[in-house]
Amino acid sequence: MWDKFDKRTLDYDSWYDRHPDIYLKELDLLTIDSPGPKLEVAVGTGRMGSRLGYDVGLDPSLNSLHMAQSRGIDCVLGVAETLPFAESSLGTVLICMSLWLFEDRRKALEEARRILHQDGKLIIAITYAESPLGIEYAGKRDADPGSFYGDCWLLTREELRTIIEETGFTVVSEKEAGLDTPDVWAVVCRKKPTS
Ligand SMILES: C[S@@+](CC[C@H](N)C(=O)[O-])C[C@H]1O[C@@H](n2cnc3c(N)ncnc32)[C@H](O)[C@@H]1O
Repeated sequence: MWDKFDKRTLDYDSWYDRHPDIYLKELDLLTIDSPGPKLEVAVGTGRMGSRLGYDVGLDPSLNSLHMAQSRGIDCVLGVAETLPFAESSLGTVLICMSLWLFEDRRKALEEARRILHQDGKLIIAITYAESPLGIEYAGKRDADPGSFYGDCWLLTREELRTIIEETGFTVVSEKEAGLDTPDVWAVVCRKKPTS
């Protein structure tokens, strides 16, 4: 579910210019000490990864990757469900405001687990379905399926926790961005030890 981002890349990217206060708070939320090399899965136009010092960004949208590359991040065309990286080769994987768009969220986290080394971190930035913004997004999705919100099938906190646990991760911390309403969360996870 990425074609809208490829066709309307500039439109998506301009959101950050229209909402500078939220952008800065999200950057602050995701300024997290974590090991390298660092990959942002679903990097989009690179607004987050490039400012947060990520080395590589992956996305299926070529138009988005062109913008991400111009912001100084190395880019790889691909999908979250089949990551073209070797086992245990990365220190941090960030999935920012994108998990709900993936065809197979469970497979995406399994792939993140495979490519992270044992002391690596998975960071998920997410809006929960039950949050004020999540409820607003669902309304927009139902009113206009052709909009960016048309594919917005958000997860609840409980659903995310279940997927995290079932794919071999443990939640280390969870923090909200400090927006007017509690809408954007950073969930930091580590790999459960292999037995
Ligand atoms: C809402 S944007 C977020 C982009 C960026 N992370 C940010 O915070 O600005 C969602 C991104 O997910 C990408 N995407 C959708 N499905 C994907 C998939 N299966 N694997 C990887 N990326 C995907 C889209 O192309 C789009 O760039």
